[in-house]
Amino acid sequence: MTRAWPLALGILLGFGALWAGLHSPVEAVEQWRLAARWTARVGFPLFIITYSASSLGRLWYGDFTRELWRNRRWWGLGFAAAHTVHLYALLTFLKVSGETRPLPLLLVAGTGYALMFAMALTSNAAAMRALGRNWRRLHTLGIHWLWGIFTVSYAGRIFEPETMTTGLIATLFTLGALALRIAAWRKGRKAA
Ligand code: HEM
Repeated sequence: MTRAWPLALGILLGFGALWAGLHSPVEAVEQWRLAARWTARVGFPLFIITYSASSLGRLWYGDFTRELWRNRRWWGLGFAAAHTVHLYALLTFLKVSGETRPLPLLLVAGTGYALMFAMALTSNAAAMRALGRNWRRLHTLGIHWLWGIFTVSYAGRIFEPETMTTGLIATLFTLGALALRIAAWRKGRKAA
């Protein structure tokens, strides 16, 4: 298979999570809530891999990390695919449940989606050349914006007894990934 396999994985995981939610033995509204939850959950490891790939390559250069680094564009597209299915599931959940979310939260999450789609559309050499330094600015801002939403979403779950374990594990992953980024950045500065 070509280097694009993480994209195929993201599509498969996203639709698999949607299917699992919609086939759960609960009422229809709850099925859509589960679909929203699980589509976010399957996208999360893909996001963490995308976020950490270059740092892992810089800190521990080897066959495995080099491959991950070279392929991070496809991991990012895999995440974007799974998270697009999250968007579909959450919009349907809001429609069927009649629930709403506060406007500031919708604006922050909506900006996250706008940045994610902008990154996905510019994940190619031609866009990199055309955007120049703005390409890096867009991708650095976008990936950290999404990192922020994941971290706040999962950290908030630590305080609810039923979601404490998921919240703790996932928050450790987001913070660990940030620590990797900082370590790789410091290593780069020292080398320079
Ligand atoms: C880029 C934007 C977003 C990110 C990164 C994100 C991330 C997440 C995360 C981490 C979860 C928890 C999954 C788990 O339990 O493991 C989740 C669940 C969910 N999200 Fe999103 N989300 C985003 C946008 C939105 C928006 C805009 C809405 C609705 C207005 C939304 C609605 C939901 C719902 C309904 C759930 C399931 C809640 C539950 O578990 O009861 N999400 N999302």
